[in-house]
Amino acid sequence: MAASDAREPLPQFPRDFLWGVSTSAHQIEGAVDERGPSVWDAFTAVSGRVKDGTTAAVACDHYHRYREDVALVGELGAGAYRFSVSWPRVLPGGSGEVNTAGLDFYDRLVDELCAAGVSPVPTLFHWDTPLALDGEGERESGGGWLRRDTAERFAEYAAVVAGRIGDRAKKWITLNEPAEHTLLGHALGQHAPGKQLMFDALPVAHHQLLAHGLAVRALRAAGVTDIGIANSHGPTWPASASPEDVQAADFYDVLLNRLFADPLILGRYPDFIGQLLSATTGDVEADLKVITEPIDWYGINFYQPTKVGAPLPAAAGPTEFSGLTLPPELPFSVREIEGRAVTDFGWPVVPESLTELLTGFRDRYGDRLPPLVITENGCSYEGLDDQRRIDYLDGHVRAVHQALAEGVDVRGYFVWSLMDNFEWAEGYRQRFGLVHVDYETLERTPKASYAWLREALRAQRA
Ligand code: FCB
Repeated sequence: MAASDAREPLPQFPRDFLWGVSTSAHQIEGAVDERGPSVWDAFTAVSGRVKDGTTAAVACDHYHRYREDVALVGELGAGAYRFSVSWPRVLPGGSGEVNTAGLDFYDRLVDELCAAGVSPVPTLFHWDTPLALDGEGERESGGGWLRRDTAERFAEYAAVVAGRIGDRAKKWITLNEPAEHTLLGHALGQHAPGKQLMFDALPVAHHQLLAHGLAVRALRAAGVTDIGIANSHGPTWPASASPEDVQAADFYDVLLNRLFADPLILGRYPDFIGQLLSATTGDVEADLKVITEPIDWYGINFYQPTKVGAPLPAAAGPTEFSGLTLPPELPFSVREIEGRAVTDFGWPVVPESLTELLTGFRDRYGDRLPPLVITENGCSYEGLDDQRRIDYLDGHVRAVHQALAEGVDVRGYFVWSLMDNFEWAEGYRQRFGLVHVDYETLERTPKASYAWLREALRAQRA
């Protein structure tokens, strides 16, 4: 019997627990000619960088079809919709002149959501830096997030957006997954802007954190009172008890789980990161005062745990992990988690590791930890009859409930994603949606998982 056939109804969550669905601008909006260019436009224009050779020029054409998409969120019964605002759509040059039509779009989107009874949850940055800020010609040397100045520009942009939709959007997210943007975009070069700086990418982490802190101040000045950040996290499991494997796993844990959370929550960097940064990046201590500007909650994007071991011999060559190619010179190697089902993306399905992550956060940060919100969780599977997505979501929602039962303060859960979309370097090959999108006709078709979630949310309200 399939696990799902025997499934009990989901346990009841607190009344005010926030259920939502997530998307991001570059992955769904399209309408590329109606905004300024971003680093992702430049990146995807280079052949070979996106695995199926596609771009997000049209994507789901959400920019023109948002009413239909908001209706789908409303019919689902979700309490909240997390979307991102495209910085180059609002400020095509990165700063200065506002594209009124772009800002009007978010204004209409927010109105439409409110009319459907759905809380708008804007994210200010989901990786689509205006190309103008990345600095043509200084690509490798010092544009974009390598520059401290970009953090200041970001705060200005935050003020512009909050000035327009802050009256109706109550819950805000500054940045999405700065760790991925640093590691994939600037260290390994497998996401935009395609820089391969390895550890010289560290200032990108610091400047994003600074941008977050400055944006929190700008949002508060605009009257916003409910602010978080969305970071990607997952338990890191050493491949064995050997000191080499444990050391490599600790190192990976710092990069994924502590590089951003420690400064945000504790006001300090993990030791060796702080030393590296101080050597290159000005007055880190003074910046940390901005970075620890209090937030109202902390967002966790969760997909999978990672098993990590000591580096493999260079002769083993690069390894593949989660769609990435990891070079052998990294001080760790990622190992297969055996005996687990995997998604179409090859990511292992380990729901109970979400409970482990959440209780681990509570144990690590104690009283300093703000309330948590799961800002993304989901999986890539083909097909409309997506029973495996139902199983995945069911398992992970139960894992969140278990964390609640163990005393962790979790306030919400957002599914990634409302609909199939442009999955970065994978192009359209990975489908994460509750709603299927036909990329030829742009027709939206709810999948079995959409119907399942609608019923589950109805039962939560009963
Ligand atoms: C996260 C990203 C999101 C999406 C999911 C699958 O890392 O934030 O945009 O790509 O993974």
